[in-house]
Amino acid sequence: MGSNVTESVQLRVVDIIEETSDAKSFVFEASSALVYKPGQFLTIEVPSDSEAGGTARCYSLSSAPHESDLLKITVKRVRDGYGSNWMCDNVKVGHTLKALPPSGLFTTRQASSDLLLFAGGSGITPVLSIAKSALATGTGDVVLFYANRNDASVIFASELSELAAKHPDRFVTIHWLESVQGIPTVTQLKNVVRHFSSYDAYVCGPAPFMAAALTALDQLGLPRERKHHERFVSLEGNPFEIEAVTTEHDLSETAKEGSASTTSPSAVPSFRVSGKIGDVSFDHDDWPADQVLLDFLLNKKLAAPFSCRAGECSSCMYQVVEGSVKMLKNDVLDDEDLNDGLRLACQSLPETEAIEISYEF
Ligand SMILES: Cc1cc2nc3c(=O)[nH]c(=O)nc-3n(C[C@H](O)[C@H](O)[C@H](O)COP(=O)(O)OP(=O)(O)OC[C@H]3O[C@@H](n4cnc5c(N)ncnc54)[C@H](O)[C@@H]3O)c2cc1C
Ligand code: FES
Repeated sequence: MGSNVTESVQLRVVDIIEETSDAKSFVFEASSALVYKPGQFLTIEVPSDSEAGGTARCYSLSSAPHESDLLKITVKRVRDGYGSNWMCDNVKVGHTLKALPPSGLFTTRQASSDLLLFAGGSGITPVLSIAKSALATGTGDVVLFYANRNDASVIFASELSELAAKHPDRFVTIHWLESVQGIPTVTQLKNVVRHFSSYDAYVCGPAPFMAAALTALDQLGLPRERKHHERFVSLEGNPFEIEAVTTEHDLSETAKEGSASTTSPSAVPSFRVSGKIGDVSFDHDDWPADQVLLDFLLNKKLAAPFSCRAGECSSCMYQVVEGSVKMLKNDVLDDEDLNDGLRLACQSLPETEAIEISYEF
């Protein structure tokens, strides 16, 4: 195995904003210019003396790319949570944090689309970035359904009011307070947003809120390609310590243990890649059966996207067009995703002799 580590960036904290009693925003200056799309996240290293708390956490950017070169994340304390409380208690202006570059697929595809956004609690973070960006650079309408426990827990209340004042014909926030109206049900969500079922939908928040919103969207008939969601989970592994691109990742034992394939562990005879990382065909001796796809592509100098390298974030998602792969681990793709041929490159081993994949998102 090689000894490289995943390429990281340094973030210097230049400001800290108390958003609510349990949420803080951290404003960073990056050591090198970082390009990102609204809705993407940073993976931040969280120091730890023990394994218990893990040592990396993802935080969505609440800033929008058009605003400035500064990056902003917003962290809400989770009761008994390791990373969120470490960030809120220990990080001060002038400190430097280590991070992986922005990543993620929870981003808008077309600047002109009308958007129906659902945010619950800290799920507002990527959603605010998407809303600000769409209003500044797009032409569509933006409707935000924003659920919170109570008045005091509403993050970005004044920023949202300012946006509404600036774009009165294009932007509306529908606030929902659980202290007043209870937890929103599928029927209530449907009733509130039913006039916007032709919009592109983006959903982020606690698991039950997301489940209700996605069910409401299903029942309103939104097709799959117009529904997007981001799950906030904690990484189990530490991508900063994972061996980066090498030519010989020894996954052969793991692959043999869990594989249902009858294919012997030899190279894939025919392998084709298309989409935003390039259109390339490889020969039979290229993708070794014991090397995960992400490592293979990076070794070939293709800019395949990734973040956690542990099957937990979906940054490395691609689509299998022909043939099949075996995934070692998958914590993020659901049955619908898998049926659509979506897979995680950091966990994929070749399973058939001919494979064609696409990076079309
Ligand atoms: C793409 C992405 C974007 C995100 N963006 C944001 C964001 O913008 N803002 C934000 O605030 N968060 C965001 N998150 C969530 C964030 O990464 C963390 O998951 C969150 O801060 C909680 O981490 P923690 O370390 O504080 O909690 P953890 O220590 O991971 O604990 C989480 C919960 O699990 C419980 N728990 C922990 N260990 C155990 C155990 N062994 N047994 C039983 N229970 C246990 C804890 O009590 C706690 O309730 C995002 C996540 C992802 C994947
Ligand atoms: S890089 Fe996170 S799931 Fe593959």
